[in-house]
Amino acid sequence: MAEVARKKVAVLISGRGSNLQALIDAAASPTYPAEIALVLSNIAEAGGLDIARGAGIATLTVSHKGKAREAFDAEIDAALRDRGIDLICLAGFMRLLTPGFVTAWTDRILNVHPSLLPAFKGLRVHERVIADGVRFTGCTVHVVRPEMDAGPIVAQAAVPVLDDDTPETLAARVLAAEHRVYPLALALTASGRAQVVGDRVVVEGAVAAQGMLVNPAG
Ligand code: GAR
Repeated sequence: MAEVARKKVAVLISGRGSNLQALIDAAASPTYPAEIALVLSNIAEAGGLDIARGAGIATLTVSHKGKAREAFDAEIDAALRDRGIDLICLAGFMRLLTPGFVTAWTDRILNVHPSLLPAFKGLRVHERVIADGVRFTGCTVHVVRPEMDAGPIVAQAAVPVLDDDTPETLAARVLAAEHRVYPLALALTASGRAQVVGDRVVVEGAVAAQGMLVNPAG
């Protein structure tokens, strides 16, 4: 079988790295169109760095402390270019990237966010979802634009909000959805099936989900 040309991906993290783990697991398949070539963290103690080391993936810590945003981003940019990175996946990377950096990597940065964007941008998402009484939430993988949690949407999953949910139980259900959607979105992007057209992403050969979900059912 002909080998697929795998895109070189850097995953940027700040914490535990469960989405990183999901991407590593997906990329273990020889037919996956991306390889995780680098895991970069702004926090030296991030649990995701241990996950990367355990998987034999190169790691790098670039601390943001005491640096102007532009200087921090320039350091990251140089590290990524040095290693021939094609695509960047933000996976719980809790730093806002400068417009200069985002523009330099236009359409080559993905982010996962634990809500159905454009609803519930920012932090403390699950608390706000419960307080607002919405019946569905979910997760989004989108192409990064300079504004926080904004940009063309590659893929989303809907997750029901249950009456007895706490922010923790809801976060766990949404996180499981993130772990399914992020590998899918990266595969679509790395293979070229997902393309940014104007302000939207068009996915070649996508089959539309039929019907509707109702929560609560019945
Ligand atoms: C994930 O829930 C991700 O959606 C969220 O941080 C968590 C990281 O978990 N990101 C954001 O809120 C970005 N706006 P992980 O380190 O286990 O992947």
